[in-house]
Amino acid sequence: MKFIDLFAGLGGFHLALNKLGHECVFASELEIFLRNHYEENFELYPEGDITKINIKKIPKHEILCAGFPCQPFSKAGFANGFSHKIAGDMFFYLFKIIKYHKPKYLFLENVPNLLTHNDGKTWLFMKNKISKLGYVVDQKVLSPVDFNIPQTRDRLYIVAKQNNLNDFEWPQKNKAKNNLKKFLISKPKINKKLTKLKNNVLETWKGFLKRIPKNTYVPNPLWSMEFGATYPYENSTPYSTGLKELRKLKGSFGKSLKNVNRDNIHDLIPKYANKTVKKFPDWKIRMIKRSREFYKNNKVWIDKYLPKITSLQFEAYQKLEWNCQGDAFNLRKKIVTFRGSGVRIRRSTNSPTLISSSVSQVPYLPWKKRYMSHEECLNIQGFRGIKSYPEAHEAFYSTIGNAVNVGVVTKIAKNLLQN
Ligand SMILES: C[S@@+](CC[C@H](N)C(=O)[O-])C[C@H]1O[C@@H](n2cnc3c(N)ncnc32)[C@H](O)[C@@H]1O
Repeated sequence: MKFIDLFAGLGGFHLALNKLGHECVFASELEIFLRNHYEENFELYPEGDITKINIKKIPKHEILCAGFPCQPFSKAGFANGFSHKIAGDMFFYLFKIIKYHKPKYLFLENVPNLLTHNDGKTWLFMKNKISKLGYVVDQKVLSPVDFNIPQTRDRLYIVAKQNNLNDFEWPQKNKAKNNLKKFLISKPKINKKLTKLKNNVLETWKGFLKRIPKNTYVPNPLWSMEFGATYPYENSTPYSTGLKELRKLKGSFGKSLKNVNRDNIHDLIPKYANKTVKKFPDWKIRMIKRSREFYKNNKVWIDKYLPKITSLQFEAYQKLEWNCQGDAFNLRKKIVTFRGSGVRIRRSTNSPTLISSSVSQVPYLPWKKRYMSHEECLNIQGFRGIKSYPEAHEAFYSTIGNAVNVGVVTKIAKNLLQN
């Protein structure tokens, strides 16, 4: 069958549908550099901005694919939905094409948040509009790990067919295998190492983990700033407490609050506690409580080690997210990501979601002493062996983090289009 690839990016839909024997007759992509890569890979130069396309000139096709921009609905963005300035109205352009051409099949992708955005009304609105054109629509959140592809990446997949979807079933999920190794390579083109600063952060937590007695429960997250702190957090907050009372207590890492006033308080208590609220949310109270309890039970060895942690430059580096409860306390064969919320350590059974918005969250592989390479990210996203892709670090991660997972798309497409 003939298909079109809208918001084409690096061409995840193209690869999947091509593999199944279908032919791409039209693509559209805003970014010129991506259009160039697309042409090199698929010998088809995409049209540009979808808002400027003469839809009558789009060739006839049976399948329409579109991973339409997700910023308007993404948790990471502002979630403004249709009022999103740049991409919020993309659905309407997509809809116009669907309405004009009425292809037999639609295959769309977006973030799961689209389902819950505006209390579910946004998705309901879209689904109703498409249904009124004679389509039966179905949707499901799936992740590559559901199909033995080692990446956690929940995405919303939407399929639709004219008249009925009777023959369609979502692909069966498999029991996850630990097969990340098959997606890693021994000699990447670019061997990106940790900066000195981040290496120090990692070494510091490595030393900390080494000191934790076996079988100790490590709260996740562990906010080290709570080690020695006594400022109020359960029924009140530093903001709602009078200075006289506050001055008798301790701030981050047990710093005395003797000279605290409203101007210097930010230097003495953690950022997450310096909020103008009278009560912290329950989850925050829980995190603070657990971190303080951990300190109380491990004070003897922590106190000796504490200067190393307090010397870490940013609060984000002073928070540990140990996602490996029950494992030995070392970093061998673990995956590390440096996040705003803390230093996240997780098992290496699969990669965290490859994201487009920041290169600082590229997974680091301590046993290889380098970040996950471009080739490895391509493998995990199903673009193994693709000829042409952006080489510059930022452009690469933004492209691969935006791309659809070819493995998941292939599975769904097989079931959708086989009859
Ligand atoms: C979520 S990504 C889709 C990625 C694609 N499915 C893939 O496999 O790589 C959305 C893409 O839409 C493109 N885009 C955004 N606005 C556009 C517009 N007005 N016209 C055409 N493409 C647009 C972006 O540049 C981006 O590459």
